Amino acid sequence: MEKEQVGIIGMSVMGRNLCLNLERNGYFVSIFNRSYKKSKKIVLEHPKKNIFCFKKIKDFIFSMKRPRKIFLLVQSGIVVDKVIKSILLYLNKYDIIIDLGNSFYKDTIKREIYLNKLNIKFVGAGISGGEMGALLGPSIMPGCKKSVYDNIKHIFFDISAKYNKTPCVDYIGPDGSGHYLKMVHNGIEYGDMQIIAESYCILKNLLKLNNKEISNIFSTWNKGELNSYLIEITSLIFLKKDTDKKYLIDLISDAAKNKGTGKWVCKSSLEIESPLSLIIESVIYRYISSLKHERNCASKILIGPKKQFLCKDKDAFIEDLRRSLYFSKIISYSQGFSQLYKISKKKKWNLNYVNIAKIFRSGCIIRAKFLNKIINAYKKNINLKNLLLDKYFSKIICNYQFSLRKIVSSSVLYGISIPAFSSAISYYDSYRSKNLPSNLIQAQRDFFGSHEYERIDVKGSFHTNWK
Ligand code: 6PG
Repeated sequence: MEKEQVGIIGMSVMGRNLCLNLERNGYFVSIFNRSYKKSKKIVLEHPKKNIFCFKKIKDFIFSMKRPRKIFLLVQSGIVVDKVIKSILLYLNKYDIIIDLGNSFYKDTIKREIYLNKLNIKFVGAGISGGEMGALLGPSIMPGCKKSVYDNIKHIFFDISAKYNKTPCVDYIGPDGSGHYLKMVHNGIEYGDMQIIAESYCILKNLLKLNNKEISNIFSTWNKGELNSYLIEITSLIFLKKDTDKKYLIDLISDAAKNKGTGKWVCKSSLEIESPLSLIIESVIYRYISSLKHERNCASKILIGPKKQFLCKDKDAFIEDLRRSLYFSKIISYSQGFSQLYKISKKKKWNLNYVNIAKIFRSGCIIRAKFLNKIINAYKKNINLKNLLLDKYFSKIICNYQFSLRKIVSSSVLYGISIPAFSSAISYYDSYRSKNLPSNLIQAQRDFFGSHEYERIDVKGSFHTNWK
């Protein structure tokens, strides 16, 4: 059978690796890059592979049979629009453009509408797994019309990561739902990284453990409930030494950067009023970390507790920390999935949470053993509004709360900043409260702004002359 020829625009590491992945899976791959040198280099490095580079975009487009399948792996934002504009002239009816970048979902929606008017099909697909994922198999989240997905799903099946032979890709939904899901994935990624960093901070600064000991703890944790890609790489990071034999982790600046997807998911949570507190704290923490100079100055003026932490039972404390991490991870995923639930209802995307959790099990950055628990929860109840209401999660979380309460109290008492851990327990305490003090907020709103309030004894809206 003749091999299918597909195209990729953008030969950064992700584009290059995806090209090799497609070729390995039997495709002929046409490649194009703004700088021809880069694509030429890839072809020269792989002389026996079915990879073909082109100087002119026109020749690149015409190298493929119709309907063409063109993958974009370019910088998100304006570059995507520029690239689309540059190829439009040469495209034909029913050609398919597949944007695999971290595009903002509202841009994806606009692009799809615009291109559909020109009879060009468009797919906004989130991919996760970093460079190695692109090469060996990423987790893929395609959002588009179902009929368009059906035309290209065989390619996604071939190149995606596999979990027990099941491809980590599925149809997500229409519009920008694929990119929306990728955005939530990234929010969860931020949350996971933050709670792991807070655990590191506690092990280092409260228990005064060294890098090797910390690595051992993460490695042990990776064998149990917390088993995940991020815990695994964390245990390895603490062992890496620089050329001068110093631990690399101790030489890395603590100002953490971000590319924006974390901010987007928080903005969306505020727009649709979905409480995403743990992830919001994680994004804010990156901003605080970037205030390196300010923090330096503040550290000389703003004092904290001086007392040394005395741990009576180190093993018990470490187990409390492990439970805190699992508790907080559950809260983070619950908040992320609840946001998906809310947006799905609002946009009528009909998201399938079982399939979403399934495609996260391999290839992507948040792959973790406990996704199977999420799958079970949604299998039992497809209309589950919050994972915490599922039997497995409610039981674990009720049990583990006491560990997190201890960890949060000790950290606060001894001046360790733990925004994600404390937001996890606060969310839990708010969510499980039949009565919140927000009756007072309602009264205040009515007092100063005549905003009215509802009563618990009589139906309707009320205003009181408070003075
Ligand atoms: C993935 C990642 C990836 C993301 C980086 C950087 O799933 O492969 O989410 O898409 O771009 O992790 O994200 P930040 O720079 O925002 O940390």
